[in-house]
Amino acid sequence: MRISGSRILMTGGAGFIGSHLVDELITRNASRVIVVDTLWLGTEGNLADARQAGDLTLLKEDAASYFALKAILERERIDVVFNLATCPLNYSFVHPRGAYMTSVEIAANLAELLRGGAFGHLVHFSTSEIYGSAVQTPMSEDHPTRPTTPYAAGKLAADVLLGSYVELFSLPVMTIRPFNNYGPRQNDGSYAAVIPLTIRRILAGERPVLEGSGDQTRDFTYVKDTARLTAALAETSAWGQTLNLACAEEVAIGDVIRAISRLMGYTGSIDRQPERRGDHLRHLADTSRARALVAFDPLTPFERGLEATIQWYSRRGATDASRAHL
Ligand SMILES: NC(=O)c1ccc[n+]([C@@H]2O[C@H](COP(=O)([O-])OP(=O)(O)OC[C@H]3O[C@@H](n4cnc5c(N)ncnc54)[C@H](O)[C@@H]3O)[C@@H](O)[C@H]2O)c1
Repeated sequence: MRISGSRILMTGGAGFIGSHLVDELITRNASRVIVVDTLWLGTEGNLADARQAGDLTLLKEDAASYFALKAILERERIDVVFNLATCPLNYSFVHPRGAYMTSVEIAANLAELLRGGAFGHLVHFSTSEIYGSAVQTPMSEDHPTRPTTPYAAGKLAADVLLGSYVELFSLPVMTIRPFNNYGPRQNDGSYAAVIPLTIRRILAGERPVLEGSGDQTRDFTYVKDTARLTAALAETSAWGQTLNLACAEEVAIGDVIRAISRLMGYTGSIDRQPERRGDHLRHLADTSRARALVAFDPLTPFERGLEATIQWYSRRGATDASRAHL
């Protein structure tokens, strides 16, 4: 599938990874990009660069609505759908059913619409959260799955559902399974992840917070690398496959918070809180399957990515007051 000249629809495209992927697709000369996003966590501002650069339309619609998606797909003659819409992991602690159902409903809608010929190819976003804590490292796509949050359970259910459609109907679905991402435009309001949250706290003159021992590890990828690699993988013929996407480097969360503090010149103390329920001890990806398909290197070194991320939040200033309710 060639991105150049393609008509693309992206669910969740006004969010963090989605908006960077929109930028990448427009750079690769997609002929038209339609973003379907409720703008619950995503923002129009995230798409400002893309609007300048290409043919972009933002539709404030719920991808969990089958009929809304169907009408858009019938009208727009879409070649490929990138499915990124999701409720964040932390949201699933307070609204477990909603987080689970959103992932499943959107995947079920897209599976049915793809089966009916409403569009040509589906690139679906999964998550490393479905694996749970590593029982063997590095973690390949065949690592056992043990979701410990309703978010991860919903993402796994979506993957399983799409896998069954691939088996039964030979549909062109590619499942991208990123490990943790970081970078500009990541939500730093409610339900935020550790990197944007730590930067926000330091910028606001507050103390950073470390949950648990700090020895728990993650495999962090700079978001622009994820966007580049996803677009490159979509141009391969790896339909029917599931592909881990990560740097394949393990970083302890305590070291992440200390690195951000150092880079921001913060010398105060770090607040300690108990370990988060459902947290994982270790994550380290085996990316050999995707590396056999596209050139990964050069990947952004973690410290360089952190610097760029801190610069972006510092320039942007405080969290948008209109998002304080989130
Ligand atoms: N951020 C990470 O570290 C990470 C890691 C692995 C996988 N992922 C996956 O990548 C994808 C994108 O994640 P992100 O971090 O950019 O999240 P995000 O919250 O920034 O973006 C998700 C977007 O989906 C939108 N949305 C939510 N429900 C919707 C619905 N029903 N209909 C339409 N839009 C809806 C939100 O408004 C938001 O703009 C998700 O599928 C996520 O599971 C993210």
